[in-house]
Amino acid sequence: MSEEAGNDVVVDPVAGDAAGIVVRGVTRRFGSAEALRGIDLSAPYGQITALVGPNGAGKTTLLLILATLLTPTSGEVRVAGLDPATDPDGVRARMGWMPDALGVYEQLTPREYLTFFAEAYRIDPAAVAGRVTGLLARVHLAEHADQPVHVLSRGQKQRLGLARAMVHEPRVLLLDEPAAGLDPRSRAELRDLLRELAASGVAVLVSSHILSELEELADRVVFVAEGRTVEEDEIAGVARFVVSGWRVRALDDAALTAALTARGVAPLATSAAGSDLPPMSETDAAALLAALVGDDVPVVAFGPIGGQLEAAYLALNKERR
Ligand SMILES: Nc1ncnc2c1ncn2[C@@H]1O[C@H](COP(=O)(O)OP(=O)(O)O)[C@@H](O)[C@H]1O
Ligand SMILES: [Mg+2]
Repeated sequence: MSEEAGNDVVVDPVAGDAAGIVVRGVTRRFGSAEALRGIDLSAPYGQITALVGPNGAGKTTLLLILATLLTPTSGEVRVAGLDPATDPDGVRARMGWMPDALGVYEQLTPREYLTFFAEAYRIDPAAVAGRVTGLLARVHLAEHADQPVHVLSRGQKQRLGLARAMVHEPRVLLLDEPAAGLDPRSRAELRDLLRELAASGVAVLVSSHILSELEELADRVVFVAEGRTVEEDEIAGVARFVVSGWRVRALDDAALTAALTARGVAPLATSAAGSDLPPMSETDAAALLAALVGDDVPVVAFGPIGGQLEAAYLALNKERR
């Protein structure tokens, strides 16, 4: 069944449309501790949804529930249209899971490791070798396929973990802190792989406590804090309301300074990277840019200072204080 599991589009009964993951009002207690106090989110097919929040926010607890490894105390969950509490086998056939700490038997080779999981998922024995070779190529581990896992770098091990999660071609992929400790190049490779998966229609949910790790990766972001969903919105939608500083750079510094002065805008700092302007809304920033261009200032760069998602997150937390 796992052979076919990747291909059926499931119409979600809770959301009323095709969504890879739907979570409504989910809580989870551990004794008297409330790890989750009310989580709402959805992760559409074909997109990367980021689950962002500080340590202890409940990200791993939620992912374990979605991965059928924990049951919620209350609330509704659908993964590929199925309820993990009542149909864990159905969910496991359609869902891939990459835990934060990957237990790999270090003496195995990547090929042996993936073959073991392909067989565990009961993939047609005649197809296993081809599937494994294809996966190794896809995660750029073909050259290391037959070396023991312990010689792999952290980024290579992460990609092996991703290949393991993909071995049964799931339609929903859960990754817990996959970018933690990766160097920028490995992170870029991870981003490209997840982008390809999303483009093929997979619903990807990826957690991190570090916003900047996911900023360039995610289509959408869900913030969690203290077991609750803070805000669910598209990154662009959140960023729209954020008042951040702006940096502008022009080919002609004197013309830029003159035009800014004429409009009563005083740069806070100026460096080779450009002039840092005080915080203003996106609407005001767009108007200022139009005015500068209208004044024939040769603007080559104009954008918010720092990551938009970071700014959005900080603004959200400020509101909560
Ligand atoms: N098995 C458990 N028993 C008791 N408390 C737990 C257990 N698992 C998680 N918690 C608590 O639930 C909260 C959320 O933890 P977790 O989901 O690991 O957060 P995150 O992954 O966002 O760092 C924390 O306060 C944590 O201590
Ligand atoms: Mg965690």
